[in-house]
Amino acid sequence: MHQHIEVEPPREPEPEQSPRPPRPEPILEVRDLQKLYPLTRGVVFRRQTGAVRAVDTVSFDLARGETLGIVGESGCGKSTVAKLLVHLERPTSGTIRYKGEDVTKLSGRALKAVRRNIQMVFQDPYTSLNPRMTVGDIIGEPFEIHPEVAPKGDRRRRVQDLLDVVGLNPEYINRYPHQFSGGQRQRIGIARGLALNPEIIVADEPVSALDVSVQAQVINLMEKLQDEFDLSYIFIAHDLSVVRHISDRVGVMYLGRFAETGTGEEIYEHPTHPYTQALLSAVPVPDPAAREQRERILLYGDVPSPADPPSGCRFRTRCWKAREKCAREVPALAVPEEFRGRSGPAAHPSACHFAETLPLARPAPQHVRQGGPSDPYGSGETPEPGGRRDG
Ligand SMILES: Nc1ncnc2c1ncn2[C@@H]1O[C@H](COP(=O)(O)OP(=O)(O)O)[C@@H](O)[C@H]1O
Ligand code: SF4
Ligand SMILES: [Mg+2]
Repeated sequence: MHQHIEVEPPREPEPEQSPRPPRPEPILEVRDLQKLYPLTRGVVFRRQTGAVRAVDTVSFDLARGETLGIVGESGCGKSTVAKLLVHLERPTSGTIRYKGEDVTKLSGRALKAVRRNIQMVFQDPYTSLNPRMTVGDIIGEPFEIHPEVAPKGDRRRRVQDLLDVVGLNPEYINRYPHQFSGGQRQRIGIARGLALNPEIIVADEPVSALDVSVQAQVINLMEKLQDEFDLSYIFIAHDLSVVRHISDRVGVMYLGRFAETGTGEEIYEHPTHPYTQALLSAVPVPDPAAREQRERILLYGDVPSPADPPSGCRFRTRCWKAREKCAREVPALAVPEEFRGRSGPAAHPSACHFAETLPLARPAPQHVRQGGPSDPYGSGETPEPGGRRDG
């Protein structure tokens, strides 16, 4: 049996400490954000028996006009981050600064004013729109809470403008959601998100429920609107390929934390975290020659429960590179030591003790290293597959 020694996670250093050009003043600064959902037992005397660590120390900045893509498998905490950002949930700890002010402490009118500026677009255009309301009422509903944005007599015209902006016929204002296709419904969801003239839109898997051909149209629309209205986006997806074009920077999440963050070039061309490398190896490559060359990294095993995450590195039960140190020490999200002081695209934050670039296009190795839940340090003694590369 191996030892499980829990150590206090090191405080994550401020992100973006690599030698790179200064970025514009952030509109949103998130630090050490944490959301734990208590697990309780008993009906009369409810006792807390533990907690689901849905979001566990997440930090990032969002600059004005920027898009941060957040990617990760189902259950890794993406929607919880989104809900915390738009104040549908209160964090257990951590801060969310909007234009320098910590909004987690706000309430009443001050909170209402901030909420107006940070709007959400939801994943499922089939269930997020009330089927009994007309499109006009759905898009105009936010005006009921913020009448100052559109006085009553002006609302119909405002809603028609919004329909036009998202590429729908303004004459559809009295139709019901079921009279629209999936892509059109997502346009309605986006129009509603725009109604209050927000500065930030948090889009939680806005295209995941749509056909691939429609996905591109909705993403193009969102890019157009971003320029037109000077919007900053948090764009969430479970697939790295979806956020590639729209994102200026990408954060890859695993079990409530960021595994790796960086620009598109850093994440897609020079990933250093094994989890990102595995996700990327599964992204389809159009060029047959490159496909032939590429090594596919298959991840075995399920994502562990966020109620009982592995000690040390949370990815270690599925990582083919895991060693003893990975169970002992929580890797901080920082530029890895060997890349520090360098200016190349490999020098970006990666929460891995053994971060290294992996040539993604190369022939499959003769010997496949294996490691898994029963062999978390990759000693090779118990060759039970937990993570495997194949050709
Ligand atoms: N209200 C809640 N109560 C308890 N657990 C929750 C709640 N909401 C989410 N979770 C759990 O938190 C984890 C993260 O969920 P979520 O943020 O929805 O992930 P994602 O959007 O990446 O699929 C999951 O394990 C989920 O079951
Ligand atoms: S090598 Fe270790 S620290 Fe890096 S991802 Fe794998 S288990 Fe985590
Ligand atoms: Mg989700």
